[in-house]
Amino acid sequence: MPIRSIKDVKNLAGKHVLVRVDFNAPVKKGKVEDDFKIQKTLPTIRYLLSKGVKLILVSHLGRPQGVDVKLNLKPVAKQLEKLLGKSIQYHSTKIVTRSYFEKTKVAIEKMKPGEVIMLENIRFFSEERENKDSLAQELAGLADIFVSDCFGVTHHPAPSISGVTKYLPSYAGLLLLEEITILSEVMKKPQRPLVVVLGGAKVETKIPVLKYLLPRADYILVGGQIATTYLWAKGYSVGGSRVGEAWQGDILRYCSKKKVIVPVDFVVGTKDGKKTRVMEVNSLFKITDSRFSVYDIGPLTVRLFAHYIKQARTLVWNGAMGMFEQHPYEFGTFALADLFAARSRGRAFGVVGGGETGEVIQQRGLIEQIDLISTGGGAMLEFLSGKKLPGLEALKK
Ligand code: 3PG
Repeated sequence: MPIRSIKDVKNLAGKHVLVRVDFNAPVKKGKVEDDFKIQKTLPTIRYLLSKGVKLILVSHLGRPQGVDVKLNLKPVAKQLEKLLGKSIQYHSTKIVTRSYFEKTKVAIEKMKPGEVIMLENIRFFSEERENKDSLAQELAGLADIFVSDCFGVTHHPAPSISGVTKYLPSYAGLLLLEEITILSEVMKKPQRPLVVVLGGAKVETKIPVLKYLLPRADYILVGGQIATTYLWAKGYSVGGSRVGEAWQGDILRYCSKKKVIVPVDFVVGTKDGKKTRVMEVNSLFKITDSRFSVYDIGPLTVRLFAHYIKQARTLVWNGAMGMFEQHPYEFGTFALADLFAARSRGRAFGVVGGGETGEVIQQRGLIEQIDLISTGGGAMLEFLSGKKLPGLEALKK
């Protein structure tokens, strides 16, 4: 997908550049727990600073329904200061009024080229949450140029993502360009076989992905709630397992296709992981006690999936195989991460997306072995469903 790049802009020196980033990072006790998303934006930030711009950063954090001090971006600004080795002005506010932008404008005027200001969590403003044009105009009033480096939110129509592009010359940042270029290539002309691994919860978000990828991928390996829903839809008793009941028809249709590889065994147990057992999928499979659920794929499935992963030349993975946060249900997801990384380090091009999937790769220390860890969760799924993303459409050449 050809989109306008920040690298195409000449004469950036002295310009006010508004950059929308996705700094939606986990924060605990005032500290950023995982700064992966922040680190990924550093090339764009450094590039712009090296050109002598006044840099205005805007992001969201969480899903506040108004001003919520627990969700201000101060910890993020601090972390960015550390990474950049440069102080950042954080323009906080406890009340959201028009005067916020007037004051911000004054602060920006006082900045020197090469300095950075970070705006308040943009979702504190109701206009952002409700996609009101008035906020797009306020934001545009702060800058000469808009740069989008926020792949993780490009599926949302919002003033700070798509709205502002109506009022300012707009370009993609280096992170966004990298993600879009790779994901587009993987979808358009992948080296084959293209093997996709789909797991996680929220089966409703995976249905359009399955539908779009079926004619494009060579194999789709499914785990997580898709697999459990398929098991249930085929008539097996799945105890207390969560399933996407509303999607029974779609799941039956898609998962019975030859190229969709479903688990042949599962780890079944109690939520606390204290009582577990492996159950093969056969006529005896039955969980009658609702305290027991399907929480992971089993060892035979890992072997089966390994067979396909080992042949792949392109690999795409979104969504854990089970409840990997609870021991011993991490086995399937971790085994898959190891297989995925080994093959990506070798002959396949490996792409991973979605918050928790990226987290697993980090926990296993495998980041260096994967070709792209996308910062997008929902956005990557929508991209892989063939949908048009408002935040990208606005940047098309
Ligand atoms: C993400 O973490 O995936 C993005 O920041 C999007 O967050 P959202 O789902 O709250 O829009």
